[in-house]
Amino acid sequence: MSEEVTYADLKFQDSSQTENIQKFDKFEKEEPPVPSHVWRQRAWALTLLCLLLLIGLGVLGGICMEKLNRLQNFKEELQRNVSLQLMQNTNSSQKIRSLSIKLEEIATKLCRELYIKNKEHKCKPCPEEWMWHDSSCYLLSTYLSQKTWQKSDEICSDYNASLLTIKSNSVLEFIKSLRLYNYWLGLSPRKDTTKYGNLDTINPFDWFTRNTSVINDTMYCGYIYYASFSYTKCTDTKNFICEKLAQSVKIESVLMSEVLDGRK
Ligand SMILES: *[C@@H]1O[C@H](CO)[C@@H](O)[C@H](O)[C@H]1NC(C)=O
Ligand SMILES: *[C@@H]1O[C@H](CO)[C@@H](O)[C@H](O)[C@H]1NC(C)=O
Ligand SMILES: *[C@@H]1O[C@H](CO)[C@@H](O)[C@H](O)[C@H]1NC(C)=O
Ligand SMILES: *[C@@H]1O[C@H](CO)[C@@H](O)[C@H](O)[C@H]1NC(C)=O
Ligand SMILES: *[C@@H]1O[C@H](CO)[C@@H](O)[C@H](O)[C@H]1NC(C)=O
Repeated sequence: MSEEVTYADLKFQDSSQTENIQKFDKFEKEEPPVPSHVWRQRAWALTLLCLLLLIGLGVLGGICMEKLNRLQNFKEELQRNVSLQLMQNTNSSQKIRSLSIKLEEIATKLCRELYIKNKEHKCKPCPEEWMWHDSSCYLLSTYLSQKTWQKSDEICSDYNASLLTIKSNSVLEFIKSLRLYNYWLGLSPRKDTTKYGNLDTINPFDWFTRNTSVINDTMYCGYIYYASFSYTKCTDTKNFICEKLAQSVKIESVLMSEVLDGRK
């Protein structure tokens, strides 16, 4: 239906156009010129129309500019707000970070107090049986038979640990307090036994690093007896101490184990 109507309309328009053209042709040929005052009136009307249009455009343009400006301002304000928000977020996360560091320090202090009273307190950041000192954990081979230096080193490795090293005064005092006799030290194996003395005279460069050297039957390994050290054949058997880094104290573990403690 609608197609037919459109077609009819088109046809009608077409025919009226041709009619117009014909009329126009006739008009050019036959009609006399229109008087000039009519033309003047038409010109005035046109000019007026143009002026009105121009004014309208101006007003529209003004409105548009105003809207654009407002949009621009809004955008800038939004950008300011967003960057402010971002800054506040950064500040907040910085505050949270420093707070959680402080909280962890407090938890660690508290846990040390608890550890002094109960060596197996749940907050201890070391595995069971291991001692906790400063930021490290230590395991005495008390329950194992004596081993060669290399075997001892391997056992410590299995615990993700290494043989005892003494690299600070605090650790030195702690180790002295344990009064260890005949325990292997994590010193690099040597070809001679010329080095011995007090623990605090050990050259820092003598401590073992895993890739130092190959060990064979003719090498000598360091061991501790009370506050002194000496070297003996690496194939001798002795006790040993493993050490590894402590984990961080879990804040929940400090609080939770208070209850568990009551049961013990
Ligand atoms: C920018 O922040 C101010 C104050 O928080 C608020 O009043 C204003 O509506 C915000 N502007 C935008 C565009 O979000
Ligand atoms: C962020 O922190 C700094 C100082 O730490 C301060 O000067 C600034 O005003 C803070 N900014 C916000 C948005 O809180
Ligand atoms: C040693 O570390 C490895 C990998 O980090 C881990 O899979 C293993 O359980 C750890 N062993 C011990 C005894 O902690
Ligand atoms: C151990 O190996 C690392 C890299 O593999 C090297 O940088 C370091 O110097 C070595 N240490 C010794 C004592 O050879
Ligand atoms: C043991 O190692 C040292 C130095 O690496 C070497 O001089 C010596 O010949 C080695 N001995 C044996 C039995 O392999």
